[in-house]
Amino acid sequence: MALPAILQGLRLPMVGAPLFLVSGPDLVIAQCKAGIVGSFPALNAREAEGDHPMLEIWLQRITEELDRHNQAHPDTPAAPFAVNQIVHRSNARLMRDVDICARWNVPIWITSLGARPEVNAAAHDAGGIVLHDVINNTFARKAIDKGADGLIAVAAGAGGHAGAQSPFALVQEIREWFDGPLALSGAIATGRALLAARVMGADLGYVGSPFIATREAQAQPEYKRMIVEGGAEDIVTSALFTGVSGNYLKPSIARAGLDPDTLPAERTEMDFRDGSSKPKTWKDIWGSGQGIGAVKAVVPAAELIDRIAGEYRAALASLAQGGV
Ligand SMILES: Cc1cc2nc3c(=O)[nH]c(=O)nc-3n(C[C@H](O)[C@H](O)[C@H](O)COP(=O)(O)O)c2cc1C
Repeated sequence: MALPAILQGLRLPMVGAPLFLVSGPDLVIAQCKAGIVGSFPALNAREAEGDHPMLEIWLQRITEELDRHNQAHPDTPAAPFAVNQIVHRSNARLMRDVDICARWNVPIWITSLGARPEVNAAAHDAGGIVLHDVINNTFARKAIDKGADGLIAVAAGAGGHAGAQSPFALVQEIREWFDGPLALSGAIATGRALLAARVMGADLGYVGSPFIATREAQAQPEYKRMIVEGGAEDIVTSALFTGVSGNYLKPSIARAGLDPDTLPAERTEMDFRDGSSKPKTWKDIWGSGQGIGAVKAVVPAAELIDRIAGEYRAALASLAQGGV
């Protein structure tokens, strides 16, 4: 099946994944101007009680800046942007945020943690498409049954609430029955890995952690430094911090006074009521996927995207030349 029109014509088949607390308008605008889909979680936009919704202010800024860019650069227009909605039952802001996104005609809606038909309907009424993120084939079928247009397969090694399955197994099982838009998430940090995702059967690579180490990311300098210095061995998988299995930087856990190699298995219930994804005491436990060995410096997002684009074209050319 052909990709929906909104996903055609990207410079690179890639989405800058939504990152809790880390992605905001600066990063999204830089990603879209550089030709990949940029995104942010709606919950990152917070205002003081009684103030105008920050989400609306962010959407206005992103829309206007990308419009200006498109008028100035009609030959290299910006890629579309996406907003991530956490559709978990504890997210009390969900329907307010859905209304704001509908009013601003957000072109791509990324939903996570439980597919909701009413959110899909609101996106469609506003002319958008919905990509739902899933960690296995069962959730993938449910998401499509409930009206999502496409899927994000979150495989082992991804930052945030990672899956446990190999990307080979996950993409293969989904592609047996689904020929719509499919992004693959998990440790994609080079152009070769992006091409591998395409070869496996995904349409797009979904790249998160490398963007933490960009100038535009709203992450503390120490967090960016840990991403630059870390590799796959510095990542630990644990359900301790949010009640759901996720991947975290070991040095941030050690800094909080815990031994990352002997973490207790005790769980805490997920709760997004105060716009947070983890209890306050865990706020300095930093998430990351396993692909960060490829991240060597903090750079502008456009430079990271240029690097991946160059590697992608080179990998494509070298495969075309060589035999098996
Ligand atoms: C710090 C961090 C925060 C994240 N926050 C969210 C989020 O709010 N919503 C979401 O759908 N995914 C979130 N993710 C998952 C990413 O969108 C994406 O699936 C993942 O980063 C891709 O794997 P990679 O980090 O190995 O590139 C987060 C990931 C990280 C590392």
